[in-house]
Amino acid sequence: MCEETVFNDARIVRFVGETFDANSYVLAEEREALIFDAVDSSEMMSRLRAHGIESITVFLTHEHFDHISGLERLRSNFACRVIASAECSKRIQSPKTNLSSIADALISMHDHSEIAKKVPEFSTSGADAIFNGDGEFEWHNHKINCHSLKGHSLGSACYILDENMLFSGDELLSIPVITRLPGGSTEKYWTKDMPWLESIKNDISLVFPGHGQSGKIEDMIKVNVMPEKFRRQER
Ligand SMILES: [Fe+2]
Repeated sequence: MCEETVFNDARIVRFVGETFDANSYVLAEEREALIFDAVDSSEMMSRLRAHGIESITVFLTHEHFDHISGLERLRSNFACRVIASAECSKRIQSPKTNLSSIADALISMHDHSEIAKKVPEFSTSGADAIFNGDGEFEWHNHKINCHSLKGHSLGSACYILDENMLFSGDELLSIPVITRLPGGSTEKYWTKDMPWLESIKNDISLVFPGHGQSGKIEDMIKVNVMPEKFRRQER
């Protein structure tokens, strides 16, 4: 499925992955597309082709299998430049660190199903450009600010488009963020990531998360409840 959001000067189309329910967000200018996360979607592929897209810039929000399941398909169909945090670039290259090696178990836990779906493990090649910490990129007349985070996964990053739209990956959703997967850190989420999210709150008009629909940053922050341990540290 796909849906469209028009905000300021940007027309953003969300595609939901066919194998996993993560989001890709696509902006198009002339024969180029800017994509946040690379889900496996035949609809996205055919819409890109129908639009006459020839080259693509992909920003990855993190290394997990559900956000990179369509990356190699995009690479083999378009001229593709992939940008990610240094840690994400490293971790997409192994089934162990992109978690596809335990995807069956994660999905059955999530669905509460007893029989695990068979998900083949996979890896992709690394990014073409990386950033450490923060980064800044331009694409046509859009500005993209990158900020590395570590709560959901070691390779996580959020992207701010044109200073007011946040592509948050799995660092901020309309459900509580998971920080207990291998490579995640509840401590880093509450001591580093959440303070940063709070610090940009007033600038962000709309959040485009890694799963589910877009929404307001304050609503998504609110669904995460700080564990008592970190509340005590704050006092
Ligand atoms: Fe994730």
